[in-house]
Amino acid sequence: MKKNVKNNVSWIGYIDWDLQKFHGDDFTIHSGSSQNAYLIEEGKNVLVDTVWAPHQEEFIENLKSEIDLDKIDMIVINHGEKDHSGSLPALMKLIPDTPIYCTANAVKSLEGQYGKNGWNFHVVHTGDTVDIGNGKKLVFIEMTFLHWPDSMAVYLTGDNILFSMDAFGQHYAIEEMYNDKADQERLWDEAMRYYANIVAPFSPMVKKKVAEISAMNLPIDIIAPSHGAIWRDNPMQIVKAYADWADNYQEDRITIVYATEWHGTEKIAHAIADEIQKQSPDTIVKVFNADHVEKDDIVNSVFKSKAIAVGSPTILNGVVSSVAGFLYYLKSLRIKGKRAAVFGCYGWSGEGNKKLREMLSDAGYDVVPAEVKSYWNPEKDDFAKVPELVSQLLNGAPEEKETEDSSASSGLAKWQCPCGYIYDPAKGDPEHGIKSGTPFEELPDDWKCPVCGIPKSRFVQVK
Ligand code: FEO
Repeated sequence: MKKNVKNNVSWIGYIDWDLQKFHGDDFTIHSGSSQNAYLIEEGKNVLVDTVWAPHQEEFIENLKSEIDLDKIDMIVINHGEKDHSGSLPALMKLIPDTPIYCTANAVKSLEGQYGKNGWNFHVVHTGDTVDIGNGKKLVFIEMTFLHWPDSMAVYLTGDNILFSMDAFGQHYAIEEMYNDKADQERLWDEAMRYYANIVAPFSPMVKKKVAEISAMNLPIDIIAPSHGAIWRDNPMQIVKAYADWADNYQEDRITIVYATEWHGTEKIAHAIADEIQKQSPDTIVKVFNADHVEKDDIVNSVFKSKAIAVGSPTILNGVVSSVAGFLYYLKSLRIKGKRAAVFGCYGWSGEGNKKLREMLSDAGYDVVPAEVKSYWNPEKDDFAKVPELVSQLLNGAPEEKETEDSSASSGLAKWQCPCGYIYDPAKGDPEHGIKSGTPFEELPDDWKCPVCGIPKSRFVQVK
């Protein structure tokens, strides 16, 4: 059954109440989700996206019950990821000549995933339009790296609907479809959780894209994303939220993440939480055991925080694997502008805090000098160090900042890739043979972004 969105535009997706995991088992789903496909029936009939392959039979039967498949004039594929393109191969077997409108990168991702099937691709770029009759047009907007290189949005004139793909979506199953009918707390929590875990690495592109869409002066009455609720009540509120979230977002909150073996590091974690409340009663404090809480939920709290404290006992000259894994994940999200502190117990060699410092610095956090490093069990002398650690988390340690921002003090500029990666001359790119201290200008001409492979020539200097 299709559901009317506005005039001749219908939702024809799949609501997945039972979804527990996403991206394999990597992302935890708490509120179900949906794969939102849309059908536009004007002079031309347009299908916007499909659903994930496990639901393809139901999707195609549903589509057939609403429209003769041969009357679909064109398919818009905004993004090649399988949750939206998964039903395309089965559908194309039934209507093999139907034009598919997508980006050049989507052709690559679709052919990469499903093979070269001779599909009738029409590559589009930002600003390209297709007249679909009845005075209405589709306007295509490339959304490169939001969140894949192939991502795109499409805007329907007349009805003023922006089909925004993953951007502005949430993993949130909602039969009532619209943001104004949603449980507001859950809607916004899932929207931010989606941003923090999926969109955050591309925050620099979010800023540019929000500015670009605003400059197009398109009246937007509805934002119809590919997951979760459709924004019809004040749709620009989610655009404004994205602009805020992309700008080193933080609330008055501190997140404490730890693992513990015999409860010593846990005691320090709770002592830090108590001290934060003492020094700053209005600051929200959240404490997570990395062994027990899903990493995406911890990240949701980290994203809202102005600072984090990370603790682990030293084990085998390093840290507990759950904390190491969490910090590896945190680095990939490129969340910026937050302080961090480290703490932990040790019995033999005690490298844990040093390791935590290295990992947090590498992830882009401003690690304060104060720490708690406790020999075996935390004792009175160890707890006495907690107030200074908390003070530095709340207020910063300027002298450390100066030391860490060595590239600024040395006059060497940082350069940023369109994907968000920043080349820091102080760090270089050791994995690719670039020593620390190498100015951007002296990188080899064939050096590429170590994250996404974009050439050096596309980087811009960070002001
Ligand atoms: Fe919802 Fe990037 O797929």
